[in-house]
Amino acid sequence: MAYIAVLGHGVVGSGVLEVLTIHTESIAKRAKERIEVKRILDLREFPGLAYSGCFTKDFADILSDAEIGIVVECMGGLHPAYDYVRACLENGKSVVTSNKELVAEKGAELLALAQKNNLNFLFEASVGGGIPIIRPISQCLAANEVSEIAGILNGTTNFILTKMIREHMDFSQALKLAQELGYAERDPSADVEGTDACRKICILASLAFGTHVYPNCVYTEGITGVTLEDVDFADVWGGVIKLIGSVKRLENGQVHIMVCPMFVHRGSQLASVDDVFNGILVRGDVTGDVVFYGKGAGKLPTASAVVADVIDCVKHMAARKYLFWEDAKPGFVADPNVAEVTAYVRASAETGDAAFTAAQEIFGGENVKRLLANTPKPEEAGFVVDGETEASLAEKLGALAARGVRVESRIRISDY
Ligand code: HSE
Repeated sequence: MAYIAVLGHGVVGSGVLEVLTIHTESIAKRAKERIEVKRILDLREFPGLAYSGCFTKDFADILSDAEIGIVVECMGGLHPAYDYVRACLENGKSVVTSNKELVAEKGAELLALAQKNNLNFLFEASVGGGIPIIRPISQCLAANEVSEIAGILNGTTNFILTKMIREHMDFSQALKLAQELGYAERDPSADVEGTDACRKICILASLAFGTHVYPNCVYTEGITGVTLEDVDFADVWGGVIKLIGSVKRLENGQVHIMVCPMFVHRGSQLASVDDVFNGILVRGDVTGDVVFYGKGAGKLPTASAVVADVIDCVKHMAARKYLFWEDAKPGFVADPNVAEVTAYVRASAETGDAAFTAAQEIFGGENVKRLLANTPKPEEAGFVVDGETEASLAEKLGALAARGVRVESRIRISDY
């Protein structure tokens, strides 16, 4: 018998209990041992459940229980999750977590601690919910040099953008609908500002490139500024707007990493990843592009990934499975300002023609192509600018503004 404890009986934690209950027999066969939840930590009361007797409010009950060899952390947030996970790894207990904030901020440290103490620290559920992505990158694609990863990593924002694109809802209507359907939190800031996607691309980057990339080193832009005019211009350009987390290895060994809304061409596999679904493209030198698609959030999909890690942990109690990356190296993340960029710009002046003429003068006529939207506001022009770096683009948009042209939007164009 393998005894486990679950920290947090929220959406994911209760899903873990549900999956372990409905698939008890098949999980025991796969793990080659029965798995029993001995303790559940939560400050709330949950009377009337089959496992109500397992609840405790005191983490010490779990830490001091020598029978518990695996602790599943589904509390979310950095504290006290970090303190509890550290304590487990210092006291002979392997840890499985769904907590992306914890892994993105403390992954290198917790992986090193697990390795030092001959324990596992597994986090398949921290990125992509039910989509297998941590194990595929670290094991199945291990023969490759990964050059690039690009993903739609946040279901909430993908749902909002899909509603804007397909049903022409504006941002706030689509957000309200997402909240009504339970796809967005009451406070959706981590999703719509890109913070959640940033944590996830940092975890994937750290795993693929073996060096911890911390979220505060990453340029992050959310979707709060995306409008229906931008959606229409993306359509005229030939694609859709998606919130993309991307990381690319540069020839000098640095990585370029960012999270931002992007135009994605209709032919791209990422363009058809809609609603709350996630899609992650991994570019390997041997495999070429591999794309992962599925439910990136939600109770049972996320619990599926957690329980798979628990099974893996049980099977490898004796022979430990190590994921590993080094702590951050100075200068590993490239300065985003030097990156080359192609971008869509929407600008307004007395007339759209005047705005476009000013843009031609500032960027050079051959570097600017106008997009003719179906229902343009007469004072606006949308155009694509090529051949700039992030820094020179920002400088020239400043010059445009200095000439009295209002820059309404700037959205990068992807090449995925
Ligand atoms: N709101 C997040 C999402 C939850 O939709 O992706 C999972 O991180």
